[in-house]
Amino acid sequence: MKIAIASDHAGFRLKEALKPALKELNVEADDLGTYDENSVDYPDYAEKVAKGVASGEYERGILICGTGLGMCISANKVPGVRAVTVNDEFSARMSRAHNNANVLTMGERVVGPGLAADIIKVWLETEFEGGRHSRRVDKMTALEDSSRG
Ligand code: RB5
Repeated sequence: MKIAIASDHAGFRLKEALKPALKELNVEADDLGTYDENSVDYPDYAEKVAKGVASGEYERGILICGTGLGMCISANKVPGVRAVTVNDEFSARMSRAHNNANVLTMGERVVGPGLAADIIKVWLETEFEGGRHSRRVDKMTALEDSSRG
């Protein structure tokens, strides 16, 4: 699986800490920045990952900021993106199985590196269940389409 990962300055250390975990999972992860702890604006990095996922260049995306929240709000502005902020393994599993989430966001100020590694493992390995959940995901897409200006 090919994914994109990015963070702002507040998520930089967690992004770096997750790289060995991604390698262990045999996931090819393109790091789209930021590359140090200098202050940046999280929507710029959410845009890179979200557009990469929406275009099909990447199957999934991972975004990290201080809380995961700004990244999630920003990523969800891109049509085709279903971003979720996840801070526990149960939500990670359900966001894939029921919501077919394609972008995961986390907060470095919320989760430690051990839990974050467990979360990405569950999230990357859980398949969408389809069935009745497809109808609901399709309705989310329809809502997105009908809300366009
Ligand atoms: C940066 O201070 C912080 O606001 C950002 O990383 C994120 O938590 C926003 O949602």
